[in-house]
Amino acid sequence: MDITEIITKKREGRELTEGEIQRVVEGFTAGEIGEGPMAALLMAVVFRGMTSEETAALTLCMARSGDRLDLSGVSGLKVDKHSTGGVGDKTTLVAAPLAAAAGVRVPKMSGRALGHTGGTIEKLEAIPGLTTALDPDRFRSQVEKIGLAIAAQTESMVPADKKIYALRDATATVESIPLIASSIMSKKLAVGADALVLDVKVGEGAFMRDLEGARSLAKTMVEIGARAGRRVVAAITRMDQPLGAAVGDAAELAEAVKTLAGEGPPDLVELAETLAGHMLALGGAAEDAEQGRARAHAALTSGAGRAKLMEMVSAQGGDRGALESPERLLAGAVASPVELDEDVFVSDIDAREIGLAVRQLKEAAGEEKHLCGVLLHKKIGDWLDGTPVATVLSPPMAEDVIWDVVQRVRGAYEMREERPTRSPLIVETVTA
Ligand code: URA
Repeated sequence: MDITEIITKKREGRELTEGEIQRVVEGFTAGEIGEGPMAALLMAVVFRGMTSEETAALTLCMARSGDRLDLSGVSGLKVDKHSTGGVGDKTTLVAAPLAAAAGVRVPKMSGRALGHTGGTIEKLEAIPGLTTALDPDRFRSQVEKIGLAIAAQTESMVPADKKIYALRDATATVESIPLIASSIMSKKLAVGADALVLDVKVGEGAFMRDLEGARSLAKTMVEIGARAGRRVVAAITRMDQPLGAAVGDAAELAEAVKTLAGEGPPDLVELAETLAGHMLALGGAAEDAEQGRARAHAALTSGAGRAKLMEMVSAQGGDRGALESPERLLAGAVASPVELDEDVFVSDIDAREIGLAVRQLKEAAGEEKHLCGVLLHKKIGDWLDGTPVATVLSPPMAEDVIWDVVQRVRGAYEMREERPTRSPLIVETVTA
C-alpha cells in the first residue's frame, strides 16, 4: 500500500496495520516519504485518533528507529521518571536523587525546553562545568556506581520522534493523545529502564488542559508500557499555577537544592516525595507507594537526597561548590519587582503566561539565559499585603524588555476578594 492509500485509510477512520505504520515511520525517517504526505497523515490522526494497537505499534516503531540504551548489564531494578511538561517543574531534580538515595537505580534521559515548559537539561547546565552529554558507557557506569545519572538524549536516539515532532510543531498537530503518548513513550522505551513513573500534568499550564484528556493520555501511556513489558504508574497532577516559587533554569535549580536541604515549598515537596515513593515501590525498594513516600521523606530529612545530587553533579564534572550556597547560582541577575494592588486574594496565576514570559526573556538574553526567571512570592490563596507578588530575574538587558515581562507577569495574576478554594495537587493515580 502506498502512502496516499495509507492517508486515505486513516482519513476514513479505518485502522492501520502494523506493517503500514512501520512503512510510514521508516519511510519518513529515511526521507523517502516527504513532509507533505506525513503532515496530511498526522492531521488525519488528530481527527480520527488511533486504536491502542495502532498507538503501540507506532511507539515501538519509533523506539526502534535509532540507537537504544541497553541497561541489562547494570545491576538491580532501574526506574525512570518523566513529566509531560509544566512550568516551574523541577521535580526530577528532587525526586530522582531521593529515589536513588533510598535504594533504586535511576537512569534518566531528559529533554530540553518545549514550548512554554522548561527542560531539566537546561536547569542542570546552569551548574558550572556540568556535562549532560554522557556516552552510553559513562552513563551505564555512573548508574551502576552511584545509582543516578541525568543526561541529554543523544541525536542518534529515536530520530523518528525528532523528525515527526518538528513537523507536528509546524503543522498544529501536537495536541493528539496517540501522537503525544507515542512521542513520550518511544523515548522512554529506547532507554532500557525496567519501570517508569509518569507525571501527567493537567490544567492551563499543561499540554492537557482537562482531566478527561489527561486521564486518557495517562491510560494510553500505561498501556503502551504494559505491552512493552515495562511497569508504568502515572500520577495525574495539577498544573494550573507554576510549581513551587521559582521558574527559570538557575532559579529552579536553586529551589531544587534548597528543597533537598529541607527548605522547599510544600507543593514541590509533596510531588517529589510522592513520585519518588512510586519509583521506590516499582523498583522493589518499598512494599507500596505509601511506604516508598515515607522512605523518600526520610531521605529528604536526613540529607541523603541532597548528598546524592551532589555526588551526581561531581560525577558529571559540575562544580558542587556552586550548589553549597544556591543563591550563588543567581549571582549577577538583575531583580525587578512585580507589584499589585493590596487587600485581595490571589485567585489564579496563568502558568502558561509565566512560562512564556521567561521564554521571552531568554530570547532577548545573550549567553546568560540561565539567569532569566520569575520568583513567585504569592501563590493562589495568598493575601496581597503590599509587598511585591513576584520578582523578574534577568541578566542585564534592555529595560523595555524587562518592563514588558514585568507587565506580562502582572497580567498573569488574577485576584478576588473571597479566599479561593485550593484544588489538590495530586488528582489520581493510573496503573495497569
Ligand atoms: N513531550 C514530548 O516528548 N512529546 C510530545 O508530543 C509532547 C510532550
